[in-house]
Amino acid sequence: MAYITLDGVSKQYGSVWAVDRVTMAIEKHEFVSLLGPSGSGKTTLLRIIAGLETPTQGRVLIDGEDVTHLPPHRRGVAMVFQEFLLFPHRTVYENLAFPLRMLKLPKGEIEERVEWVLGILALRGLEKRYPNQLSGGQQQRVALGRGLVGRPKVLLLDEPLANLDRELRQEMEVEIRKHQTALGIPFIYVTHNQEEALSMSDRIAVVRGGRIEDFAARTDIYDRPKTAFIAQFVGRSNRFEGLAAAAGDTTTLRGEGIVIEAPHHPGLPAGSRAAAYVKNEKIRLKPATPGDAPAANALAATIRHVILRGAYAEYVLGWAGGEIVASRPRSEAEFSAGTDVVAFWDKSDVDLFSATGEP
Ligand SMILES: Nc1ncnc2c1ncn2[C@@H]1O[C@H](COP(=O)(O)OP(=O)(O)OP(=O)(O)O)[C@@H](O)[C@H]1O
Ligand SMILES: [Mg+2]
Repeated sequence: MAYITLDGVSKQYGSVWAVDRVTMAIEKHEFVSLLGPSGSGKTTLLRIIAGLETPTQGRVLIDGEDVTHLPPHRRGVAMVFQEFLLFPHRTVYENLAFPLRMLKLPKGEIEERVEWVLGILALRGLEKRYPNQLSGGQQQRVALGRGLVGRPKVLLLDEPLANLDRELRQEMEVEIRKHQTALGIPFIYVTHNQEEALSMSDRIAVVRGGRIEDFAARTDIYDRPKTAFIAQFVGRSNRFEGLAAAAGDTTTLRGEGIVIEAPHHPGLPAGSRAAAYVKNEKIRLKPATPGDAPAANALAATIRHVILRGAYAEYVLGWAGGEIVASRPRSEAEFSAGTDVVAFWDKSDVDLFSATGEP
């Protein structure tokens, strides 16, 4: 049996189902992210696991125990929030000791645990400071420490890095993942930021409208999106629309001025509307030559803008059907704005979905 089980969990607020029949099993060693847009139900789901909300339906099991109706402090969970919620008039040491004092632990054990957290989070030397005397990253570490000091069975994190700048966020991502691995307890991490989810997680649950759209290894979520929503939400892609036709191991999409061949898709009847997604980094470029014949999985385009992103160059390309973006390593030949090129990609890099019923 899994370490954490959510069994048909739902939460209704008035007429809104904030969480809708969520079933998930999480193992003890796992770092799991709940990734979804604003309002999709991520925080509500986390609060249900924490015991801060009672589900309208369903059960929550932690370490073999049904905790659905247990109060937060009896569940062995801790939660870290986006707003660090440190006590401004208490020192780092007192902030860390506070949850243990609430548990009325003996003085010696409180000292021992605070020392342990100061050590693993590299906060030694800062224990006498007040929160406003710390950097953003240090404050976030204290908040993390306050979650860990109770030695929880599970750590729940709700957008803990959202207030940090990009560079610090990336540093903290590495740090948080390191601590999760060392502690060997599951971290459940809520974010609407795909980069955060991809950088740290073993598995990602994509949340949409209170439901789990897919729960899979991060590489599967990224490389083999199960739905058009995931293809759109995770990674950066180009979308093409057209009508499907199947032949052998290939499903072909014909749109205006473009033919896209994809691996066979069994769920697309001939003539039905379909959408193809190709990730920016899968689009390759070559110089246009006179007499280029139209081909499948290729289009004639002109480079409109070049955006430098460190190791990558992002090319915004104009073609007959609009704009696409190609992301190429700087180590490749570079093109400048105004150049005519052929943009092309592999059949295996096309993710195809039905577009019938789409608004
Ligand atoms: N206490 C509440 N009362 C009524 N509706 C609520 C309450 N809490 C959340 N909701 C609604 O439930 C839905 C899910 O909210 P939730 O806070 O879980 O989303 P979220 O995915 O965490 O979004 P964000 O990324 O903006 O934090 C939203 O429609 C929200 O308005
Ligand atoms: Mg939220």
